[in-house]
Amino acid sequence: MKYISVIGSCNMDMIVESDIRPKAGETVMGKRLILSPGGKGANQAVAAAKVGGDVYMIGCVGDDANGEMMCHTLQNNGVHTKYVNVLSNEITGTAHIILAEGDNSIIVLSGANGKVNQAVVDKAWDIISQSAIILLQHEIPLDTVGYIIQRAYDEKIPVLLNPAPYADIPKDWIDKVSYLTPNEHEAALIFPHMTREEILHAYPRKVVMTIGKEGVIYGDNDSIVHVPGFDVSVVDTTGAGDTFNGAFAVACTEGKSMEEAVRFANAAAALSVGKIGAQAGMPVREEVEELLSCKR
Ligand code: RIB
Repeated sequence: MKYISVIGSCNMDMIVESDIRPKAGETVMGKRLILSPGGKGANQAVAAAKVGGDVYMIGCVGDDANGEMMCHTLQNNGVHTKYVNVLSNEITGTAHIILAEGDNSIIVLSGANGKVNQAVVDKAWDIISQSAIILLQHEIPLDTVGYIIQRAYDEKIPVLLNPAPYADIPKDWIDKVSYLTPNEHEAALIFPHMTREEILHAYPRKVVMTIGKEGVIYGDNDSIVHVPGFDVSVVDTTGAGDTFNGAFAVACTEGKSMEEAVRFANAAAALSVGKIGAQAGMPVREEVEELLSCKR
């Protein structure tokens, strides 16, 4: 089996749970603080490994307790960490999350993620080049993302770009990747003068747009396919998009049809929102298959 390479961020998520989201200038009392491994890259790696992918994480953490915990968590979930570089004099990236009123707000401090440069990628290229798919996001320097997209394109390795958090990206990136997986807000920013329908028709089977609990839409030939989400009770949506991306990548590498792959990933994402913490609720393969079989 070929590998899945995830080149991206590792963050320690510092989650403050509160009944009320403070407005600008306001102070409110919170309920509890939870430290939980996260980062879009690490989340996607764990999600993919849990549903059966043979996953390499490529990235950087600091030489600190958070970095150590990130590496252990990746390993405990079956992700290869040989190319997670532990950098001295750097701190592990952190995400500061307010979980209130049924949704999250996140501020990310890059820390060591800012050091994921071409040299880090080159060192791991032997593995990356044997990958069935490469997963990328926007929490490492964008020039590194561009470098990987070009090199993968030259070597005909499929790339899934999850364009989160939003950044202004060159059009040729969109042309060169196999899948672009924005949520509806990111899609509106990336394609400012286009309707959803125009976007999906312009990039059939490439732009896979997540639309929250409604599920996913993509274009196929002249039509738009809507694959509905699953109706589940929500505790914390942090990492649901990452779970979708990791599971979708695994399903694509297994040769599932586009619709089946999206449905599989929707089920994984739905299961992931049942617990607090991006990685805490991510399902294993059997749980995804059980949900899928119940809903057939
Ligand atoms: O996508 C969710 C992730 O975004 C969190 O785990 C946090 O680390 C931020 O990077």
